[in-house]
Amino acid sequence: MSAIAGIFEVCKMFTIHRFKEVGSTNDVAKKYSFDNIIVAEEQSKGRGRFKREWVSGKGGLWFSIVLKPSRRVFEYTFIASLAVLRAIKVGSIKWPNDVVYDGKKVCGILSEIITQGDESKVIVGVGINVNNSIPNSLEDIAISLSSIKKKKVNIDSLLNRIILNFEELNKVEFKKILIEYKKNCSILRKEIKVKSIDKGISGRAVDVDSDGRLVLKTAKGKIRVGEGDVTVGQPF
Ligand code: BTN
Repeated sequence: MSAIAGIFEVCKMFTIHRFKEVGSTNDVAKKYSFDNIIVAEEQSKGRGRFKREWVSGKGGLWFSIVLKPSRRVFEYTFIASLAVLRAIKVGSIKWPNDVVYDGKKVCGILSEIITQGDESKVIVGVGINVNNSIPNSLEDIAISLSSIKKKKVNIDSLLNRIILNFEELNKVEFKKILIEYKKNCSILRKEIKVKSIDKGISGRAVDVDSDGRLVLKTAKGKIRVGEGDVTVGQPF
């Protein structure tokens, strides 16, 4: 892991640290204090939810923001997804942490809380397929921004726009964040299935509640789900 010599920027609130290659920006971020952002050109051990591998080759935007916790962790995920959506201007949110286009993943967010001694930090990791090539094995589920826009995308200005959006949205009360999140959440009002580690539930997605849970209308009544992978379509 090596920092790109001499290149770091300070935006209004955050200091940006750039690396050529790291394991995972979320792991590097753990060594930094609040209000720093770690950006890498490549990750060799990028990870997603449920400890899944996150393929992070050159040409993508892979970064992590270190924050002093002042909200519930899932709220940062919602804020980051809106910050990305406002910046890329295409696609929609797939609860809980994806930005998708045509059902395929453009962006994934991994928010984590860590406690070191007396101090806790929130790390908000954002991965966006920008100009990177998508491996054949992932073509059915992932898509890059450059293939959506049919042109190469400027990664630096994209990052700047996302950070500015994030700063702005992070000042907004959660009630309003949730309204914008739900407006942009494309799985609402659809028949879906949610698969979590130990179970699968089918139903109609009717709401996201104030605790960030997806509310499903099922044959057994309303069920609230806190985590899982959503597929739109037929029941199990
Ligand atoms: C997911 O969809 O499961 C979340 C993917 C999050 C990927 C990003 S890339 C930057 C940061 N570093 C990581 O190792 N993961 C997050």
